[in-house]
Amino acid sequence: MNEAQRTVLVVGATGSIGRYVVASALDHGFAVRALVRDVARGKSFPPEASVVVGDLTRAESLNEAVAGIDAVVFTQGTYGNSSGAEAVDYGGVRNVLAALQGHKARIALMTAIGTTDRKGSHDWKRRAERLVRASGQLYTIVRPAWFDYNEPDQHRLLMLQGDKALSGNPSDGAIARRQIAEVLVRSLSSEAALSKTFELHSERGPEQTDFDPVFASLEADAPDALDGARDLPNMPLDSEPARIVADLDRIRTDVERRT
Ligand SMILES: NC(=O)c1ccc[n+]([C@@H]2O[C@H](COP(=O)([O-])OP(=O)(O)OC[C@H]3O[C@@H](n4cnc5c(N)ncnc54)[C@H](OP(=O)(O)O)[C@@H]3O)[C@@H](O)[C@H]2O)c1
Repeated sequence: MNEAQRTVLVVGATGSIGRYVVASALDHGFAVRALVRDVARGKSFPPEASVVVGDLTRAESLNEAVAGIDAVVFTQGTYGNSSGAEAVDYGGVRNVLAALQGHKARIALMTAIGTTDRKGSHDWKRRAERLVRASGQLYTIVRPAWFDYNEPDQHRLLMLQGDKALSGNPSDGAIARRQIAEVLVRSLSSEAALSKTFELHSERGPEQTDFDPVFASLEADAPDALDGARDLPNMPLDSEPARIVADLDRIRTDVERRT
C-alpha cells in the first residue's frame, strides 16, 4: 500500500511524544492530521502536517478530526490527575472511537508500563485499552517504560508482556521518546503488530532496522479478551463502576450491530 494515501490522526500531538509521532508519521509518508485544543499550539508543526481543533472531553468536537482517517495514534495524557485521567486518558479514547461510528481506522494506543498495577490513574489507561480491544478496530497497544531514561548506548528495542516491572520508578525500564513514536507509527503498517499489547523497553545496543521480528515474537491478545496477553486478571468486570461497564457494552453492541 502507498503510505502517502493514508491519513493518520495524531491525538496528543502537542505533547512530548505526540510531537515525535507527527515527525515520524511524516517521515513514513503518512498524511498527518494533528489534533490540538488550541490552534496557536499547532503553529509549530512542520508545514506538511495539517491541524484540526478538538477537545477529547467533548465528543461533539471530534467529528472533523476523524473524518476519512485511516489510522489514529493516541498519545494524550494527564500525568496522574485522576479526574483528568478519566476524562482524557480514558474518555478521549472512548469519544474518538464513538466519533468513528464504525469507520475502520487502524489504532496505535500508548498507555504506560504499570497499567495493570491497580495504582493511581493507571486503571483509566487500562480501561482505555479495554475499549480499544472491544472496538472491532485493528490495533496495537504500546506501554512505554520511563521516557528518555535510557543510556546513550541503549537503543535496542525490547518488547515485554505481563506488565511485571512495577516498582514505579525508572529502574523498571527506559525508552527514548523518539523510539516510542517510531514504534507507534510503524505498528500502523505491520501485520505482525496486530492485536499485540506490550511494554516497550530498551537495552544496550543499536536499534533494530526491521521492527517486525520484534512485534512477531509477541503473543497476540485473545479475541474478545478484556486485557492484554499475559496480563494479571486483577481487574474483574463485575467490580468495575457501572458507567465503565455501560461504555464497554455500548461499544460491543455497536460492533455487533455493524457486523
Ligand atoms: N514520563 C514517563 O516516563 C511516562 C512513561 C510511560 C507513560 N507515560 C504517560 O504518557 C502520557 C503522555 O505523556 P507526554 O509526556 O506526551 O504528555 P504531555 O507532554 O503532557 O502531552 C499530553 C498531550 O495530551 C493533550 N491533551 C490533554 N488533554 C486534552 C484534551 N482534553 N483534548 C485534547 N488533547 C488533550 C495535550 O494537549 P495540550 O497541548 O492542549 O495540553 C498534549 O498534547 C502521560 O499520560 C503519562 O502517564 C509517561
